Amino acid sequence: MSSRLRSVMQKGKRAGLEVLETAVSNRKKSKAAIKQETSTTASSSVSLYHTFPDPADVVRLRSQLLGWYDKEQRELPWRTLALTESDPNIRTYAVWVSEIMLQQTQVVTVIDYYNKWMKRWPTVQDLAAATLEEVNQMWAGLGYYSRGKRLHEGAQKVVTELKGQMPRTVDSLLKQLPGVGRYTAAAVGSISLGQVTGAVDGNVIRVLCRLRAIGADSTSPAVTEALWSLANMLVDPERPGDFNQAMMELGARVCTPKGPLCSQCPVQSHCRSYYKVHVRQQRISQKLLGKLDRKTSDLPDIEDCMNSGTCPLCPTEPWDDELGVHNFPRKPAKKPPRVERTLTCIVTRPGEEGEDEYLLNQRPNKGLLAGLWEFPSLLLEGENSEMKQKTALCNEIGRILGTHLTESLLQYVGEVVHIFSHIHQTYVVYSVCVKEGDTQAENTQWLSRGALQEAAVSTGLKKIVKLYDSVDGPKDKTLKDGTRQKRTSTKNEEKKRQASKKPKLSAANSGGRQLSLSSFFKTVKEES
Ligand code: ADE
Repeated sequence: MSSRLRSVMQKGKRAGLEVLETAVSNRKKSKAAIKQETSTTASSSVSLYHTFPDPADVVRLRSQLLGWYDKEQRELPWRTLALTESDPNIRTYAVWVSEIMLQQTQVVTVIDYYNKWMKRWPTVQDLAAATLEEVNQMWAGLGYYSRGKRLHEGAQKVVTELKGQMPRTVDSLLKQLPGVGRYTAAAVGSISLGQVTGAVDGNVIRVLCRLRAIGADSTSPAVTEALWSLANMLVDPERPGDFNQAMMELGARVCTPKGPLCSQCPVQSHCRSYYKVHVRQQRISQKLLGKLDRKTSDLPDIEDCMNSGTCPLCPTEPWDDELGVHNFPRKPAKKPPRVERTLTCIVTRPGEEGEDEYLLNQRPNKGLLAGLWEFPSLLLEGENSEMKQKTALCNEIGRILGTHLTESLLQYVGEVVHIFSHIHQTYVVYSVCVKEGDTQAENTQWLSRGALQEAAVSTGLKKIVKLYDSVDGPKDKTLKDGTRQKRTSTKNEEKKRQASKKPKLSAANSGGRQLSLSSFFKTVKEES
C-alpha cells in the first residue's frame, strides 16, 4: 500500500474518531501547548541525559522514524484492517485480537493464526457466540493458552455488559477487558482509536534504553516509569498508532537484541549508545596512535550522565567496550526454568472404521495449558520411583476406562523435551493398545486420528505424536480382537523404523510386543 493512500485512509478514519469523548487529541492543541507539555515532561527529576530536553529533537525524531516506517513497514493483516476498517467497533476488536496474539509470539507465527481467526470470527459478537472449545482449538499451537480464553471472556463481556460496544479509550480498554494491561490498552487505543499515548513493549524498551543510554535493570520501577514517560513524550500526536508501531518495527528489524543494524537506523543521530560506542572507539584509536594525552583520555565522555553513581537509570555495572550498544538494556538474570518429568501414555483402541482411536483427557480450566486435551499423564514427583509412578499412571488409565491395567503392559516409546517459558519439561512416553473400553470418567474422550489432528491440543502433545509415529511409522490398525493389522511398509520406511526403534526401546519395553488391554491381557505379537 502506498504511503499516500495510507495517509488518505488515515485521515478518513480520523474523521470518524472526533466523536470520542475522552480521546485526547493533540491535533486540537496549539503548538505552544505541545511544546510546553514536552518540556514539562522532560524537566522531571530524571537527568536530562536520559530524556529529550530539546523539543526540536523530538520533532526531528518523529519525522525520521515515521519517514522510515512509511517506506519500510511490513504489510501485516491487522495493520491493513486498522487502516481500512471504518467501523471503530470492528477495528478495535481486530487490533485487540492482534495485540493479544502478539504477546509472547513472533509476528511471522501470528499472521496465519490471525487470518484464520478473523475469517471465522470477524466481529466481537461472532467470537462471543463461539465455545471455549472452539477457541482453544483455533489457538492450538500458539502457546500461552489463557490468552485465547481471555479474549473469549472479554468478547462475552462486551456483548452482555457493554451492549456490544468495544471500549473507546485506553482507560476503559484497561479496565473493561480481561487480559489487557497497560501496554495492550495503549497499543490498541493508539492503533485503532488514534488515542495519543506511547506504548512500551519489549522492542520499545530496547530502543528507548539504547537511545537514552538507560542501563539499569529494565524491569525496575524507576526504569519502567522513565520509559513510559519517554514514550508518552515522543509519540507523534498526529499519528500515534503509526509512531508506536514504527518503534516496535525498529526494535524488531533494526535495533535488534543481538546484531543491531546501527548503520541503517533512521534515528541513529539521537542514539546515546551509538554515540558512546563511536566516541569510545575514536578515543581508543586516538590513544593507540598516541594522539590523546592521558589526562584527556581519563575524562568522562562529554555526554555522560552527571548523576552517574546515584542515577536510578544508569547501569550498575561498568560499561563494557566489547558489548558496544548491547550494554543497553541490561536485564536481570533470568531464573532458570523448573525441570520436570511427566509420564504420559498414548492409549489406543480399534475404532468403528477400523482406524485407531486415541484416549484424551482434558486439563483443568485454570493453569498451564488450561482446557487443552492431552494423553493421560502424571507428573513425576518426589522420591517415588519411576516404577511406582508407572503404577499410578496405570491406575489413572484404569480409572478412566473403568478397568484395571498393569504397568507391564505399557510399551516404552521414548522421550520428548518441550520447553515452556518457565518449565523444562520432559515427557516420558509410553503406549498401550486396549481392545475396547468406553470412557467412564468426565472430561475424557476417544478421538480418531483425524479428530486428534484438529483438536485443541498443545505443541508438546503434537511432538509426542510425532515421536510415536517415528518409532513405528504410521500406525497399523488395531483389530477388534486386539491384534494389529499389518500395514505394508516400503523398504525405506522399514529401514528407518528399524533404525529409530532400537535405541528408543528400553528395559521397560516388553521386547517389541504390541500389547493389548483386552480384558486383560491378551498378548499379541507385533507384526513387523
Ligand atoms: N508487536 C506488538 N504489536 C505489534 C504490531 N502492531 N506490529 C508489529 N509488531 C507488534
